[in-house]
Amino acid sequence: MPNNYTSLISELREKLKECKSPHDIANIKAHYLGKTGIVTNEFGKLKDASLEEKKELGKSLNILKGQMQELIALQLDNIQKTKEDNNFVDVTLPGKNISMGSRHPISITINQITSILSNHGFTSVSGIEIEDEFHNFEALNIPDTHPARDMHDTFYVSDDKLLRTHTSSVQIRSMLSNKAPLKIMTPGKVYRCDSDPTHSPMFHQIEGLYIDKNVNFCHLKGVLINFIKEFFGKDMEIRFRPSYFPFTEPSAELDIKFQGKWLEVLGCGMVHPNVLSNVKINTKQYSGFAFGLGVERLAMLKYDIVDLRMFYENDISFLSQFKGLK
Ligand code: DAH
Repeated sequence: MPNNYTSLISELREKLKECKSPHDIANIKAHYLGKTGIVTNEFGKLKDASLEEKKELGKSLNILKGQMQELIALQLDNIQKTKEDNNFVDVTLPGKNISMGSRHPISITINQITSILSNHGFTSVSGIEIEDEFHNFEALNIPDTHPARDMHDTFYVSDDKLLRTHTSSVQIRSMLSNKAPLKIMTPGKVYRCDSDPTHSPMFHQIEGLYIDKNVNFCHLKGVLINFIKEFFGKDMEIRFRPSYFPFTEPSAELDIKFQGKWLEVLGCGMVHPNVLSNVKINTKQYSGFAFGLGVERLAMLKYDIVDLRMFYENDISFLSQFKGLK
């Protein structure tokens, strides 16, 4: 093969190395073998050559063309293979885990509490969070001058509007609009100016209220004893400790024995006749009991959580421990 043909081959080799795509290859192919390509031109020269030269040159040109086609096809093949390698999906690799969210522990606890209470016949009612003094205090037998108002560190929104300090205000709204008989539970947020490992300025309460004929303290005890047992899933040591709330008489606090210590879990009592009169319910005909519990407190006891603020820090590793619970 003539020298210039051999150098054409090495030139092509170099150019092919630079090719990154089938498009690059097509350009190179056209440059050498296309209609006006270098090799095609060489073929064109044959017609002016002598018979002897024709034989010789023709043979060399065919070899050149053949080698070039082979090199080009090889490089095209390489490029396509690399492309396939880059797109390769290894189906045996472990999948990327898209983790599902889970319910918040406070929602889980509210669901558990309300589902137990609904089995006891309580219907869920929601109230409003910005209350007035009448529904949050006065109607609940907590007059302006009453020392019990100091029990609450209240967030006032205006002179008469406040963020409700307890869900007991919903008792008043329900009794005013529905009269007796009545059996309600009122899960919701409440607000107090308080913040430490066991108190947060916003927390959740569930209030229970049952008004009917002949309701007495035994009914109250029965509901709460069953409730505690069902909530914790086992028999717990319980005591009713006499206490004071302006809206109940008699009043008690329910304590449970937890790791050897008595812990207060909720307040309760027989609805004070003054409260019933305030909402125009005949106290000769009706009586009732009420209780109020803190959701965070019960959740902390059940799930052994020491700092209440963890509920609100949105730490995924904390929250994901409640996966699967409803
Ligand atoms: N409202 C009370 C509080 O926030 C809790 C409470 C105590 C509610 C006794 C009641 C009750 O209905 O009878 O501390």
